[in-house]
Amino acid sequence: METVKCIKERRSVRKFDTSREVSKELIESVIDTARFAPSWKNTQVTRYYVLTGDAKNALADCTNIWAKNGDIMRGAPMVVALSVVDKRSGYERDGSPSTPLGSGWQMFDSGIACQTFCLAAHDAGLSSVIMGLYDDNAADVIGIPEGQILTALIAVGYAAEEPIAPNRKELSDLVTYKS
Ligand SMILES: Cc1cc2nc3c(=O)[nH]c(=O)nc-3n(C[C@H](O)[C@H](O)[C@H](O)COP(=O)(O)O)c2cc1C
Repeated sequence: METVKCIKERRSVRKFDTSREVSKELIESVIDTARFAPSWKNTQVTRYYVLTGDAKNALADCTNIWAKNGDIMRGAPMVVALSVVDKRSGYERDGSPSTPLGSGWQMFDSGIACQTFCLAAHDAGLSSVIMGLYDDNAADVIGIPEGQILTALIAVGYAAEEPIAPNRKELSDLVTYKS
C-alpha cells in the first residue's frame, strides 16, 4: 500500500469480526515490520506480547478504568501489549538520564513502534486501536517481567465497522514557519 494512503486511511477500529482469528504468521509479519521503527541510539527497547484466548480475556476482565476498553478486548481476537525495557532509551550507560526528558524518550520510542505496528497492520488488512486506558495491575496480569514498563495495549483483528475519520486540525493551527 502506498505510504501516505496507509497513514491517512488507518482508523482506530473498536469492533472486530469475531469469526476471524489473526494467524500467528500474519501478526509476526506485522511485528517484523514494526521492529524497523527508529529508536534512541538504536536501543530497540520495545517488546511485544501477543495475547489471545484466556490471556486476552483475563486482561479485559481487569480493565475497569474505562470499561469500554474491556469490551473492545473481549470482542477482539487478539491484543498486543507493548512494553519497553526500562532506563535504556534516553539514558547513559551509568543510568543517568541523557536529557531532562528522562523516561520521556522510552515512551517516545514506544509511540513510534506503536504507530509503525498499526500502519503495518493496516497494510496487512488488519485493523487496530491503541488503548492507553488500562489499570495499574495490567502489567502483572500480562506477566511483563521486572525491568520492563507496559506502555500500550493494541486490540487487533478484522474490522466489523468502518469508522468515519475524526476531524483533524487545520495545518495553519499546527505549523509555525520561522526564518
Ligand atoms: C496514546 C493513545 C491512547 C489511546 N487510548 C485509547 C483508549 O484507551 N481507548 C480507545 O478506544 N481509543 C484510544 N485511542 C485512540 C484514539 O482515540 C484515536 O486514535 C483518535 O480518536 C483518532 O482516531 P483515528 O485513530 O481513527 O485517527 C488512543 C490513541 C492514542 C494515540
